[in-house]
Amino acid sequence: MTGVIELNGVGFRHPGGTEIAFPDWRVASGEQWHVSAPSGCGKSTLLHLVAGLLTPQRGSVSVFGADWRTLSGAKRDRLRGRRIGIVFQRHHLVPALTVAQNLALARSLAGLPVDPERANRVLRRLDIEHRAGARPETLSGGEAQRAALARAVINGPELLLADEPTTALDDPRCEQVVELLCELAWEQGATLVVASHDRRLEPHLERRLTLTGEGVEAPPA
Ligand SMILES: Nc1ncnc2c1ncn2[C@@H]1O[C@H](COP(=O)(O)OP(=O)(O)OP(=O)(O)O)[C@@H](O)[C@H]1O
Ligand SMILES: [Mg+2]
Repeated sequence: MTGVIELNGVGFRHPGGTEIAFPDWRVASGEQWHVSAPSGCGKSTLLHLVAGLLTPQRGSVSVFGADWRTLSGAKRDRLRGRRIGIVFQRHHLVPALTVAQNLALARSLAGLPVDPERANRVLRRLDIEHRAGARPETLSGGEAQRAALARAVINGPELLLADEPTTALDDPRCEQVVELLCELAWEQGATLVVASHDRRLEPHLERRLTLTGEGVEAPPA
């Protein structure tokens, strides 16, 4: 069976940086993964590669059996918008729009009808319904993370990528968000990848990929 994610021989170099070498990795449908590594080892870079937002200089990254390199720009956008939900480390909500409008925009960009009822359900589930009319800059760190999570799941993605979704959260809220991530993924039959150095996630996610930072330049002593 085709993997949801396949990495083969991937190396990526940010401008001015040294190459980060990633382990070969295969993720099957419905699996729940924790990508763990100390800060600066390439967790966010890996999620961007998986989402087709960065292209490796070496090796291949495939999702749902398609190598990103073989897809045109329009096909990439469509695949990402329809089938992948992303919670970025910095939440990337559109500042001029309210939380509800950010959700509506994600639907429109993927060519899906705006669905306020679904949006309300998702916001209620994340305990942030009362902030639906708020602009992102007025949200607390934890609220912004939950709003970003709502936007990531609004299109019912088959693959959910979450980058440090719990770092701004206290213990009870962290527990709630990670359980919710797992539940949402489970209910929708989605595959889940959470990148985080937050050790509180460890008991919740069944599989772990550990990055060693191989190839990353050591910081000056
Ligand atoms: N846009 C960029 N330009 C140049 N270097 C970058 C860029 N983004 C990341 N890097 C470098 O690439 C390496 C990996 O960064 P990345 O953000 O993937 O790490 P991370 O594991 O997500 O770290 P953190 O836990 O702090 O979020 C780091 O050395 C970082 O400084
Ligand atoms: Mg990161």
